[in-house]
Amino acid sequence: MSIQSIGIVGAGLMGGGIAQVCAAAGLDVILCDIHQDVVDRAIKTISGNLERQVTKEKLTADLAAASLARIKGSTHLADLSICDFLIEAATENLDIKQKLLKQLDAVAKPGSIIATNTSSVSITKLAACLSQPERLVGMHFFNPVPVMALVEVIRGIQTSNLVFDATLALAERIGKTSISAKNSPGFVVNRILVPMINEAIFVLQEGLASAEEIDAGMKLGANHPIGPLALADLIGLETLLAVMEVLHRDFNDPKYRPALLLREMVDAGYLGRKTKQGFYTY
Ligand SMILES: NC(=O)c1ccc[n+]([C@@H]2O[C@H](COP(=O)([O-])OP(=O)(O)OC[C@H]3O[C@@H](n4cnc5c(N)ncnc54)[C@H](O)[C@@H]3O)[C@@H](O)[C@H]2O)c1
Repeated sequence: MSIQSIGIVGAGLMGGGIAQVCAAAGLDVILCDIHQDVVDRAIKTISGNLERQVTKEKLTADLAAASLARIKGSTHLADLSICDFLIEAATENLDIKQKLLKQLDAVAKPGSIIATNTSSVSITKLAACLSQPERLVGMHFFNPVPVMALVEVIRGIQTSNLVFDATLALAERIGKTSISAKNSPGFVVNRILVPMINEAIFVLQEGLASAEEIDAGMKLGANHPIGPLALADLIGLETLLAVMEVLHRDFNDPKYRPALLLREMVDAGYLGRKTKQGFYTY
């Protein structure tokens, strides 16, 4: 399957990063959002990132200009009808994604693939709203996309082998290392990482050790590059709570219950770095 053009829906944090790595790999990109100012901001951010790479001599000015020229902005989904591969990276909300995927299914050209970057919605459930459910696949990038090496490629029960293999090949082409996984709540990385952070919050809540000691323990004793509570502040406590709630609900297993302290901090608006207050003060 030959893939040369990528349509990305949602020009937020993830969509912009995905556009940057696709364009850098020589693919033509249409970056689409409902708001023109969001598209403009995303393209400005990409331009700034590329300029920084030129300053650091990681990229030539010509290659940076060529990458940027390959990205076109749009606010019309219909413009994506020329694309070989579509990546949905819109707001994490079931209704928004189902509505959007139905619209994409209608405009996407025959034989094109639709991928979703959802962190928590079932790929199987999203595929069920398409006229051809076998064309949907999960392609879960990590933030910040230009920096993080991994992509989880997720198979819904309907996903065809052709679509799955083409997605693995695309991930490799844009310089990412992929792991393949079956659809399941939290996929692989968040299923392991987020309960580990939640457990660190339980340890803090029970007064067993201070935040600094818990983080030092996991850095020095488990060789983690960052402690779990500092990582929680970086990710955002409301995002972690949402993931724990999905794991708890979908597995219906009490081992995934969110720590009370996590909920308490979210209720207080202490979301981590973004609010300057989380397990640490910034
Ligand atoms: N932020 C992360 O760390 C991270 C990591 C992996 C996956 N994800 C997933 O990536 C997706 C996007 O996350 P984000 O952090 O970039 O969010 P974001 O809020 O930064 O961006 C989402 C964008 O989608 C746009 N949008 C909403 N509805 C739309 C529609 N109907 N058509 C076109 N655009 C629409 C919004 O205007 C917004 O610009 C989510 O599914 C999220 O779970 C996020």
